[in-house]
Amino acid sequence: MPGKQGAEWWREAVVYQVYPRSFADSDGDGEGDLRGVVAHLDHLVSLGVDALWLNPFYPSPGVDGGYDIADHCDVDPRYGTLADFDTLVTAAHARGLRVIVDVVPNHVSDAHPWFRAVLASGPGSPERARFHVRPGRGPDGAEPPSTWTSVFGGPSWTRITEPDGTPGEWYYHLFAPEQPDLNWKNPEVLAEFARVLRFWLDRGVDGFRVDAADALIKDTTWPDTPGGWPVIPKDASSPVHEVYRALRRVLDSYPGDRMAVVETGAPDDVVALFLRPDEMHLAFNLRFAKAAWDAGELQAAITESLAANAAMGAPVTWVLDNHDNPRSVTRFAAGIRLEGDYAPTSTGGDGVADLARGLRRARAAALLMLALPGAAYLYQGQELGLPNVDDLPDEALQDPVFRRSGGTERGRDGCRVPLPWRGEVPPFGFSPDGVATWLPQPPAWRDLTVATQEADPSSTLWLFRRALALRRAEPSLRRGTVAWLEPSSPGEDALRLRRKAGGGRALVVVVNFGVEPVPLPAGEVLLASAPVAVGGGLPGEATAVVVPAGG
Ligand code: GLC
Repeated sequence: MPGKQGAEWWREAVVYQVYPRSFADSDGDGEGDLRGVVAHLDHLVSLGVDALWLNPFYPSPGVDGGYDIADHCDVDPRYGTLADFDTLVTAAHARGLRVIVDVVPNHVSDAHPWFRAVLASGPGSPERARFHVRPGRGPDGAEPPSTWTSVFGGPSWTRITEPDGTPGEWYYHLFAPEQPDLNWKNPEVLAEFARVLRFWLDRGVDGFRVDAADALIKDTTWPDTPGGWPVIPKDASSPVHEVYRALRRVLDSYPGDRMAVVETGAPDDVVALFLRPDEMHLAFNLRFAKAAWDAGELQAAITESLAANAAMGAPVTWVLDNHDNPRSVTRFAAGIRLEGDYAPTSTGGDGVADLARGLRRARAAALLMLALPGAAYLYQGQELGLPNVDDLPDEALQDPVFRRSGGTERGRDGCRVPLPWRGEVPPFGFSPDGVATWLPQPPAWRDLTVATQEADPSSTLWLFRRALALRRAEPSLRRGTVAWLEPSSPGEDALRLRRKAGGGRALVVVVNFGVEPVPLPAGEVLLASAPVAVGGGLPGEATAVVVPAGG
């Protein structure tokens, strides 16, 4: 078991998100698998992370990249076996890495036995009471029960064909039709998820990432809303918080600091409600993840989320990249801000996707993130500075967002392209030579492989390694206070933060958002995201961590 960190390891941990289908392919089928993860754990060790989070690897038809789960207590054959999972946990723990797995409480796959039973049973059955199944409106019940739309596009109600072949009731799905929502007001659902958590806790996992965590409780009066927006109460009195109190009791019944990090796109004060001491441990700061490359916007995201979480005694969980959004290199290249869920519309920026500029900014933002107090989550390939792949051929696209938007949204495949490990041509060591990967890799990734970057001390890989080592060495980077310092001159396009934690020396972090250099405080530069000449300023679109002269 990892034992190097003390209690509440998750408060300051850096966690590496593994998207199993795209991490490493051990069996040559063009898709990643659990044995591929085991084979590359040393990449995570040399990076210096504390833990890995695995996106879903459970049996699934794969309609939504595995977020349509048919059995929450097994491994899909495409990813391996439960024995492979056990090997992965043992191998990770032997290296001091903790393991977090995804849990998806909002919905199951339509191939799940519970939903099959819905189709086989009739109206009013206990099987239907586990989901939101309702008669339709209008003559013959041919109209859906409400106007609500799905976050993947299209209506969020689908009509059932009854066992006798007649058109019947409707079921609710916040996401794709193949992802029917569970009815969390039914106690059987909580009992089932307590069982799921125990299954993985018994196998040694250190925690969970809770998918769409704030969405579990719907307004079941199903009010019609303008634009079809769903009504999902998450205020302090919503029963959704009772769910997390119950799940917390399951976690707390296990030894060894087991934790949960929730995904919610709610505003800061609502996110903080899920972090009350008897609820969950962490919540992603998706506001930070969606911000543009803009000093004011990032400063507000930092200040306000720190304040909201401090009220609960909870750390902030920083994230820039994940499997749902365009990679930061590409976002920052065009200076865009993300809006909406999963079908990222974007605003702002000059629309010029200069990837060299995007990479400078993504490196600077990552060094800033790793110098903020709390937990930080990295997404596989972020440490390589991979751009989003925005020119995948239509026929390769698999995200339901593409299909359900009628092709107007490209979806999320562009951030899910298999990793380049080594070599001159695809599959770049992801799969055995000559194998076609499930999404094609750009030939230009030849310059971004792990092996290429390993040999180049100025690479993004080495920047992440140094940043993580520095964070480990300097308590003031991973906990403590953030104080905003005055600009060096009026109107300077930069952020200056003083960071200080008990037991650590004070540090100053400078982020230059402009293109002209800005002065650095006198002192020693410990790390910078771009070369800093001795006695020179900080170049444009760069971050530096400085030990100020005189403290
Ligand atoms: C979460 C996941 C996303 C998935 C959705 C539905 O937001 O991160 O990938 O599509 O939930 O499960």
